[in-house]
Amino acid sequence: MKIGVLGAGMMTEALAAGWVSAGHDVLIGGRTPGRAAQLAERIGARAGTLREAAEFGDAVLIAVRLAGLEETLRAAGAPEGTLAGRTVIDCGNAVDVSDFSQVTYEGGSSMAEQVARLSPGAHVIKAFNQAHAAVWRMRPPVVDDRPLAVPFAGDPDGKATARTLITDLGAEPLDAGDITQARHLEAMAIIVIRLLFSGYDPLSVFAFSSPGRTGEAITSR
Ligand SMILES: NC(=O)c1ccc[n+]([C@@H]2O[C@H](COP(=O)([O-])OP(=O)(O)OC[C@H]3O[C@@H](n4cnc5c(N)ncnc54)[C@H](OP(=O)(O)O)[C@@H]3O)[C@@H](O)[C@H]2O)c1
Repeated sequence: MKIGVLGAGMMTEALAAGWVSAGHDVLIGGRTPGRAAQLAERIGARAGTLREAAEFGDAVLIAVRLAGLEETLRAAGAPEGTLAGRTVIDCGNAVDVSDFSQVTYEGGSSMAEQVARLSPGAHVIKAFNQAHAAVWRMRPPVVDDRPLAVPFAGDPDGKATARTLITDLGAEPLDAGDITQARHLEAMAIIVIRLLFSGYDPLSVFAFSSPGRTGEAITSR
């Protein structure tokens, strides 16, 4: 698959390297061309402008800081339709880390819904926002002998591609519903981030008891 990436930071390095290893053709578009070029060289991808990355991908990952979201989408030509017909994966955290409040948009909507508003025709999916970049660098991401489950939510037309991209990292896709469910995925990530900032392992909170493998994992702790 051809994958364009908007952003050249930690998440791009972690996720795109896995997709390159899985045989995908990745083009990284960055605000700072030198940073995108160096990153692309490190992981075996190509580099270009934000617009080139948007126009390249069957799938396009947006991996920029919230403060740069709108500027990045505009530079990529999203409002003009460059992302139309493509699966657009938003991995961003809509959080103000000064007080861990959730950043929301029109009518209390999510960052992913804002991406969809700014990207007419795109099949927007929220995914990969639940775990730290260090987890996405794992090959494969396995926790307590279980493959990492990756909840994703969004446009039904983007879900097959999202499943492929999650599976190709060695993780398990978990369909969490339509784009409105991104509001919950973004809120969930804030709990995880707050725990990490406070020095807690989120697994100590999210280790629910249930029959099967999860229960075994809990009894072994
Ligand atoms: N890091 C994690 O563990 C993690 C985990 C889950 C989700 N996320 C989310 O994934 C997204 C990417 O995270 P990351 O850790 O990869 O971020 P990062 O390394 O700090 O930066 C990613 C990209 O954002 C661009 N950027 C930053 N501020 C910008 C601005 N004001 N305007 C335009 N572009 C700007 C940077 O451009 P330059 O190259 O020009 O600086 C960089 O290419 C964020 O929304 C983050 O919340 C991160």
